[in-house]
Amino acid sequence: MADREQQLQQALLEAELDTLAIRAGQSRSAEGEHCESIVTTSSYVFESAAHAAARFSGEEEGNVYSRYTNPTVRTFEQRIAAMEGGEAAVATASGMAAILSTCMALLKSGDHILSSRSIFGTTTALFTRYLAKFGVEVTFVSPLDIKAWRAAIQPNTRLLFTETPSNPLAEVADIAALAALAKQNNSLLAVDNCFCTPALQKPLELGADLIIHSATKYLDGQGRCMGGVVVGDKAVISEIVGFLRSCGPTMSPFNAWIFLKGLETLRLRMDAHSANALALAQWLEQQSGIEKVYYAGLPSHPQHALAAKQQRAFGGVLSFQVSGQRAEAWRFIDATAICSLTANLGDVKTTIVHPATTTHGRLTDEQRAEAGISENLIRVAVGLEDIKDLKADMARGLAAL
Ligand SMILES: Cc1ncc(COP(=O)(O)O)c(C=O)c1O
Repeated sequence: MADREQQLQQALLEAELDTLAIRAGQSRSAEGEHCESIVTTSSYVFESAAHAAARFSGEEEGNVYSRYTNPTVRTFEQRIAAMEGGEAAVATASGMAAILSTCMALLKSGDHILSSRSIFGTTTALFTRYLAKFGVEVTFVSPLDIKAWRAAIQPNTRLLFTETPSNPLAEVADIAALAALAKQNNSLLAVDNCFCTPALQKPLELGADLIIHSATKYLDGQGRCMGGVVVGDKAVISEIVGFLRSCGPTMSPFNAWIFLKGLETLRLRMDAHSANALALAQWLEQQSGIEKVYYAGLPSHPQHALAAKQQRAFGGVLSFQVSGQRAEAWRFIDATAICSLTANLGDVKTTIVHPATTTHGRLTDEQRAEAGISENLIRVAVGLEDIKDLKADMARGLAAL
């Protein structure tokens, strides 16, 4: 058994993404279970007082307490780290917990975050409402304007933060250019890779230092549970583990198991999401009643070439503006029958939402205008239903305009 385990570990050093997604990180118990097991325990027993002391001090690696060490969670961390090409990962209770933990572990009062302005609305709120209270400054710039990033960088800029493609307008940031800028300034570049996942985009290979995920989205893939993860170098990740140990926004072993099952089919799903989204974006672009479609897979998208260079496909999320204002957008949404009216994304079920009054509703009018979130904008996170039925559902929306 030990020999086979060693052979597997050796083979995985050279393995491709689909193989890592299914095999990496698993360590079987003496029961020889084939599927990964869910280890539901809050604490662990030790062989002696000396053994307990060695584990608690970190002198010996191993389980101590499930707030920061759990075998099922560790399997998930090792698997996603392998898939992203990172040394280590730390799993958290949600995507927001991953972003918060990264900031709390790596920043101190007086530090500065330089962030894309086109990020998830709650991340903006975290930076401006909460981190600001502890003396962390933030400046927002367009993800497209590298000159603006260069001009806004400060000696105390510790973290560059971007999401690409962005939610909901699919703006594409140049990860390699941002990574070069971060390096010049001795800052860290964190990329929220939630929309692409490692199946479509590998930010560490492009020079980023940290990858953040809301595992709630495509890593799960079926909208079942909340989770987050940060991937990066061992030294940086161990700082974040320290924050989890003291502050507790931990992933549950059950959720880790769901995400492990999700990872196994991630690449297949991401390709299918991307194919459906591209077909729907192309169709929408030709309909009267649609003013503009935002999807990086369309040649009409201004960063189509960059997206094609740094992504393997274009993902499942698209947005479009209908002719009219809020009333028309709401009528369109209410007329659909198959789409779920919910803010989540990354699910096999297609979801539809009005960003200005939901996901980005807590931004000020000014912040919304700057981020380009207009009242006639609708976001669709395209699922895996038959494309014919999805087009028919959009046609219901169009008929209601
Ligand atoms: C791009 C992005 N990052 C982070 C988050 C936050 O993740 P969670 O909802 O798991 O806290 C979301 C949630 O929608 C998101 O879309």
